[in-house]
Amino acid sequence: MHDDTGGAWWRNAVIYELYVQSFADSDGDGLGDLAGVRARLPYLAELGIDAIWFTPWYPSPLADAGYDVADYRDIAPRFGTLAEADALIAQAHRHGIKTIIDVVPNHCSDQHAWFQAALNAPPGSAERERFWFRPGRGPDGDLPPNNWQSRFGGPAWTRVNEPDGEWYLHIFAPQQPDFNWGNPEVRAEFEDILRFWFDRGADGIRIDTAAMLTKDPALPDLDETSPAPHPYVDRDDVHEVYRAWRAIADRYKSRVLIGEIWLADAARLARYTRPDELHTVFNFPYLSCPWDAGRLREVIDGTLASHGPATWVLSNHDVDRHVSRYGRADTSFDLDNRDHSQPVDLQLGTRRARAAALLTMALPGSVYVYQGEELGLWEVEDIPDERRQDPIWQRTGGTDPGRDGSRVPLPWSGVEPPFGFSPASATVPPWLPQPKEWRELTTEAQDADPESMLELYRAALRIRRTWRTAALTWRLAPDGVLAFDRGDGVCCVANLSRTPADLPAHRAVLLASSPLSDAKLPPDTTAWLRF
Ligand code: NOJ
Repeated sequence: MHDDTGGAWWRNAVIYELYVQSFADSDGDGLGDLAGVRARLPYLAELGIDAIWFTPWYPSPLADAGYDVADYRDIAPRFGTLAEADALIAQAHRHGIKTIIDVVPNHCSDQHAWFQAALNAPPGSAERERFWFRPGRGPDGDLPPNNWQSRFGGPAWTRVNEPDGEWYLHIFAPQQPDFNWGNPEVRAEFEDILRFWFDRGADGIRIDTAAMLTKDPALPDLDETSPAPHPYVDRDDVHEVYRAWRAIADRYKSRVLIGEIWLADAARLARYTRPDELHTVFNFPYLSCPWDAGRLREVIDGTLASHGPATWVLSNHDVDRHVSRYGRADTSFDLDNRDHSQPVDLQLGTRRARAAALLTMALPGSVYVYQGEELGLWEVEDIPDERRQDPIWQRTGGTDPGRDGSRVPLPWSGVEPPFGFSPASATVPPWLPQPKEWRELTTEAQDADPESMLELYRAALRIRRTWRTAALTWRLAPDGVLAFDRGDGVCCVANLSRTPADLPAHRAVLLASSPLSDAKLPPDTTAWLRF
């Protein structure tokens, strides 16, 4: 592919989040794998993406769907081999597709060699210093060292060798011990892991939980009302880590570092994309924003003003799919309050998702597409309890439904599960059950149907390529309507109001998310116009 970006290909790229376990299963074990991805690369090339971000593909006991890494320099046997990953990276490059690897530096798996060594070593040992081991509180040490809670529910500490053992810190599941980033050995190890994947041809690194690596070594109780810096979120010293990583990335050609950072404070977030740190961070304010023109305009303006190189994202494997979100009365998303009790109007949600896709793809910057959003998949809210896998569901006693509903394996073909996700010979069902209604959403059913979500994405990505570096200029528009020009002669208009809106003067309609009527833009519709 011709690169006219001076090496900064990621600035305007369309990056496809590929959740390996749910993409395509080649060997019939109910889990996606690398051979499955390799067989479907032509599909991704035809979709028109620039890069794939692979969610963790390392050996892992799957306590958190692979975000519990047992070995950062290998591939999970259920997914394939390192040689296959090399072949996949090369094959993707031949299709003009770059690859981004997910690195998880905050914590590893409890099966990682370092953690196993720590368990077998005494308190105070060098092995334990790679993690956060501390004696408990109370006369018998049977109370956790502080009041921190796990993001997945329950205390953030687990005791080893009860009744007299130390406790270790895990901000996520107990099977995900946190590394001690105050220890130079940990820093050196991850710098080496970065080089390992860059040397294998990876074009970028997505950094998991990027704002939480460094901790206050005093491990004080968390007091949300205190003005003191948070003991483990967004501490100033985490930036040293990324300065070192940037220096490594800069020794290679055109590599990108992408931070997964959920921070409400835009100024603090912007610090991560200073020139000697990360190249970009995800835009979670955009993802969380309700389907409301005024609120979206604020987020878009805020992003363009201070986010660093702009990124746009509507869905990922941690949040409710936006088809469902936009079909609810409350269209916003809150990571800490996942509400599946609201009724979902899937028709409305799908209509808005189409409009949102065209709005998002018209914005200047890079765009993330989470696998299945190009098929209009919705959040599967009725997974039977005994099939749920997400530790969030279990650790909150079912009060938080967790993230399984966004991770259900893709439907490719046929009229019943596994919809071509697994081969016909498979004896094991997909790791999460697929709704039978997805027979209408398979790639086979949508291919060549001009009204399908898939064809909308293909057309949009094709057109976007021709004007993706042009700047954005807002037009005056009525309440509930967003209208802006992208460079010379192209205008995007999105109607988020409840009444039809006048279309600006134009010579041609390049693309519309729903049919236009009498030169009007119906509610929940976006159009791209040439004027
Ligand atoms: C963010 C990842 O996206 C999520 O899936 C994971 O559970 C946590 N980080 C912990 O690794």
